[in-house]
Amino acid sequence: MKRGRTALAWLQRGLILAGGLPALHMLYRVTLALRPGGPGLGKPVIENVAQGSGRWALYFLLLSLAITPVRRVFSLHWLARFRRTLGLLAFFYAGLHAATWLLDRGRHSALSLAQSILSDVAQRPYIALGAAAFFGLVPLAVTSTRAMIRRLGPAWQRLHRLVYGVSLLAVLHFVWRAEQDAWSAVLCGMIWLASMALRLVFWARDVQRAWSEDSDAT
Ligand code: HEM
Repeated sequence: MKRGRTALAWLQRGLILAGGLPALHMLYRVTLALRPGGPGLGKPVIENVAQGSGRWALYFLLLSLAITPVRRVFSLHWLARFRRTLGLLAFFYAGLHAATWLLDRGRHSALSLAQSILSDVAQRPYIALGAAAFFGLVPLAVTSTRAMIRRLGPAWQRLHRLVYGVSLLAVLHFVWRAEQDAWSAVLCGMIWLASMALRLVFWARDVQRAWSEDSDAT
């Protein structure tokens, strides 16, 4: 039992380390660009960080959403432990993604930051979906601590159902934006659909079981 818990704690640390690797790679690209004689923070580097962080935010969000169905299908109940880490990794990359976009907007000095933001959202409306997804992730991240779970009680579970809508917005943001690489956007959409469909199946089964237990009792 104790050995199992230690192994899980190591797996958790491994997940955090592995989850930080894409950010380290982005940092490496930025450092290379900023080194003396380097090309500086041009479009390719900004795009690399903006796109990489957006993708990793979505991948971690979809992975956190997949935990419940995978856990129930394969009876891997210990997987639940990794959901919060995956969600926080998604939030971290979403924050990096939004911050990169804001910094990039701030560089367009001909316009004020607010004007630059508004004109970009008008030209690329999918940004509004991404922003809505990001604002939805904030309360989920803020309430992810054990103390908040205890304090909110059953309301915590209701609040965290927000993740279904947030992940849908994030997938639509990606699908709308994806021009050249439509396949990975479609694949993310299919993963979202599959994990929602499995949830529905489990929910229907639980309701049916509760009904039959009720009728057995009466
Ligand atoms: C304030 C919030 C957000 C803003 C302003 C924003 C903005 C953008 C922009 C401008 C791009 C295009 C980047 C480029 O082509 O260089 C983009 C792409 C993308 N965003 Fe967001 N986004 C936001 C939130 C999110 C969130 C929460 C997620 C996922 C959880 C996400 C996932 C993606 C993905 C997967 C791409 C496509 C990357 C690629 O083409 O490889 N975004 N976003």
